[in-house]
Amino acid sequence: MKPPRHLLEVDDLSPAELVEVLDLADDPSPPQALDGKGMALLFEKPSARTRHSMEMAVVQLGGHPVSVAKGEVDIDNRESAEDVVRTLACYHAAIGARVFDHNLLTRMVAVSPVPVVNMLSDQAHPLQALGDLLTVKQAFGEVSGRRITFVGDANNVSRSLAIAAGMAGAEFVISGPPGYRLSSADLDRISATGGAAEIIDDPAEAVADAHVVYTDVWVSMGEEKQSSEKMDAFASYTVDEALMGQAAPDAIFLHCLPARPGLEVTEQVLYGPQSRIWQQAENRMHAARGLLAFLLEAS
Ligand code: CP
Ligand code: NVA
Repeated sequence: MKPPRHLLEVDDLSPAELVEVLDLADDPSPPQALDGKGMALLFEKPSARTRHSMEMAVVQLGGHPVSVAKGEVDIDNRESAEDVVRTLACYHAAIGARVFDHNLLTRMVAVSPVPVVNMLSDQAHPLQALGDLLTVKQAFGEVSGRRITFVGDANNVSRSLAIAAGMAGAEFVISGPPGYRLSSADLDRISATGGAAEIIDDPAEAVADAHVVYTDVWVSMGEEKQSSEKMDAFASYTVDEALMGQAAPDAIFLHCLPARPGLEVTEQVLYGPQSRIWQQAENRMHAARGLLAFLLEAS
């Protein structure tokens, strides 16, 4: 039996495998990789898109999803994360988890006999990045050579996007205030995949000639205590129509959602003609289906 393939960050795939996952995401008749099997989806934090896209992806692969809300298994209180994973693997062909601390996912992977998928941690949101690449591919025909500018926090979403963009041959630019930028370890990891992240202080300069302008909330789940200092730090990083006007004429706007209209993005941009947010949300399901089909076949 082959060892399980996990996905905690996009670079758990090779660049060639990333292409394969995106191709599988486009497959209208996906292999029934979960025929008669289950997938457990554990949530320590709220979710709309991730839960529903993953559940429907599992159904479309012939499987049965079981979503588990925080407190239902009570990881590390009622039972250790390791024993939760060993137990769920008795019933399920794969396990997804949305966690506060990325290290919890690493512990799960260490004992899991079935694939473990990161459904968002404090460090990474690879499922989001896969759906994002699919959206860029649909908009421009290919990802390679596109210029993707993220305006905002160096967080789980932008970190995974930077890695995915580099692997797919896109340029990646990020603009945010001091103290909220990619670390040197992040930049090294992006370089290791063949990419590069350019840090540009001025958001107007950062979005110049961008094909994709992307933002995310300034305060992520679990960061509520830093809310007021982050609101102050990011006050001049709102994506508005004037900023979009600096990007390429055919630029699209992306946001992983949920959004806080009036903060990181204006309503005019979020719901405006350049926005692809609903296509992007739908693509979460197609990307999840492609990824699961790949991981189950490779495991
Ligand atoms: N983008 C995203 O992951 O949305 P949810 O938090 O609603 O799952
Ligand atoms: N950065 C956000 C993304 C939500 C999908 C968070 O972690 O809350």
